[in-house]
Amino acid sequence: MQFFPSQWQVFQQQTSLEGKLVAVAEQLQTLCADVERFSVAVYDEKTDMLKTYYSTSHADEAITRYQARLNAVPSLKQLSLSSTPRVINDLSCLSHNDTYHTQALLNQGWRSSCTLPMRYSDSFMGFIFFNSRKPDVFVGNQLIHLELIGQLITMLVHDEIAQARTLKGAVQSALALSCGRDEETGQHLERMGYYSRIIAHHIAGAFGFDDHFVEQVFQFAPVHDLGKIAIPDSILLKPGKLTEDEYREMQTHTVKGAQMLEDVFEHHGIQEGESSRILRHIVLYHHEMCDGSGYPYGLTKDDIPLEARIVAVADIFDALTSRRPYKEPWSNEKALATLQEMAEKRLCPECVQALADNMDEVRMIQQMYEESLF
Ligand SMILES: [Fe+2]
Ligand SMILES: [Fe+2]
Repeated sequence: MQFFPSQWQVFQQQTSLEGKLVAVAEQLQTLCADVERFSVAVYDEKTDMLKTYYSTSHADEAITRYQARLNAVPSLKQLSLSSTPRVINDLSCLSHNDTYHTQALLNQGWRSSCTLPMRYSDSFMGFIFFNSRKPDVFVGNQLIHLELIGQLITMLVHDEIAQARTLKGAVQSALALSCGRDEETGQHLERMGYYSRIIAHHIAGAFGFDDHFVEQVFQFAPVHDLGKIAIPDSILLKPGKLTEDEYREMQTHTVKGAQMLEDVFEHHGIQEGESSRILRHIVLYHHEMCDGSGYPYGLTKDDIPLEARIVAVADIFDALTSRRPYKEPWSNEKALATLQEMAEKRLCPECVQALADNMDEVRMIQQMYEESLF
């Protein structure tokens, strides 16, 4: 296999997994023109679930948001124990097979397939599925090329998953440190994470984001106030009103949090990617307001990343509906009415509407994480 310098450069310039996989797909086209599609499914050992993860197919053709228990698909279970590819040079011989995945492939006109188990350090990570619209494609040299490309994809997917785990671990340690110094209890953080997920889930499609985005917002929303670690007790815990200087110092928790994240990224060797970007945006911009009245930069609506707008709404809603030393909890109706008023200028109207439209889900979270009365 030969990477031409220009293609190799294109590959190296990609910072996201998706960008790198697109570059791999282009390379695949050069080497094996008849292999028009590949997709990746990753395996979660804890739940025995095989989940779709990436596909080069256009969105309308892709088999997305699909998952199955590996133990329920004996042929794949067997393949997961080996490290050799499984080639089916004529998929029509499987037309009697009624699994969702096989039927979807046949309906889309795919005629042959090669399935490679992904293994890294001897542990099974999932599968790569290569497909062609022609029969008898996966023979001879093509298979050697595909095995090499498969190894490259395996390494890329492994790096991405390992990085996301490291990031989550680092964030969780930071969260454990930042929790409990002020009135924002652990339950507040849990609830506002779920509220953020509800909002993200209901508006992601309209804004062109996918499941991955929703999951990241959910994971990272609770760490929005990370920078409060750097705010002195005399200000953070002051019972009365803050002076102007103290308020200004308090506002620096956004920028300080973002600086702390940069240190975390550097120490853990985390490169710039979608996860680190979403986390940084949440920490840095969750006090920005759509009319430019927020801080630290006074950004306006579309310049504020969606993830930060979501977290702002979730955070304010939970603050209003929670008990604080200086106030009783507001009812959901009163809090929502206030958010709707704020959505005319300051908050993202789509985010507020998503919350208002899904109060059943909100109430379920409130029951799960009920605040203790004292
Ligand atoms: Fe904050
Ligand atoms: Fe908060």
